[in-house]
Amino acid sequence: MQLFLDTTDTVVLKDLAATGLVDGVTTNPTLIAKSGRPMAEVIAEICELVEGPVSAEAVAVDADGMLAEGRKLASIAPNVVVKVPLTRAGLVATAQFAREGIQTNVTLCFSANQALLAAKAGATYVSPFIGRLDDQTPGSGVELIGAIRAIYDTYGFDTEILAASIRTPLHVTESALAGADCATIPPAVFEALFKHPLTESGLQQFLSDWAKTGQSIL
Ligand code: G3P
Repeated sequence: MQLFLDTTDTVVLKDLAATGLVDGVTTNPTLIAKSGRPMAEVIAEICELVEGPVSAEAVAVDADGMLAEGRKLASIAPNVVVKVPLTRAGLVATAQFAREGIQTNVTLCFSANQALLAAKAGATYVSPFIGRLDDQTPGSGVELIGAIRAIYDTYGFDTEILAASIRTPLHVTESALAGADCATIPPAVFEALFKHPLTESGLQQFLSDWAKTGQSIL
């Protein structure tokens, strides 16, 4: 399973990317606004920090506008993936991007039918927003992942399921169990993936017992 960071905070990204466990990054207009920086500048920096796919979202609502913006975003770096919303115009643009060899991440997906259309349009990734679904109906987010997985496997679609709108470490677990290809995770949740109280207490006990031996490994 590929683990992406959902962030435009390049300081935090650089720190977590150093673990070697960050496979890519997703951004969206809200995260770009939060950065307070020009979009092209922050996307270019992110693309330098990670080798994997970096999603940069078009903001036009018509297909021609998305195509113009997406081609410009794709020119920033080879690992840019153009993000478009799961709308009729977004899927028309997705099909054209596929013909041009530009990778896409179709975002704001909330139903299996939307995900089916995204795959038919040739999307590289589809982003079901599981946190926003769970905000309304707990458990519905991971159910959607499972439904999309079943449909994609039945018909052999290559589109990758990118679980998004992740709120908790449990969302990551549930997405992995449901067969998502990737998850895009806020930095605070990514940090929490490393941690468990029994790991901390067990380590402290090992170190305490080791100290009593008076030995040194080196
Ligand atoms: O960036 C895509 C998605 O992960 C954002 O979800 O619900 O945290 O805004 P949300």
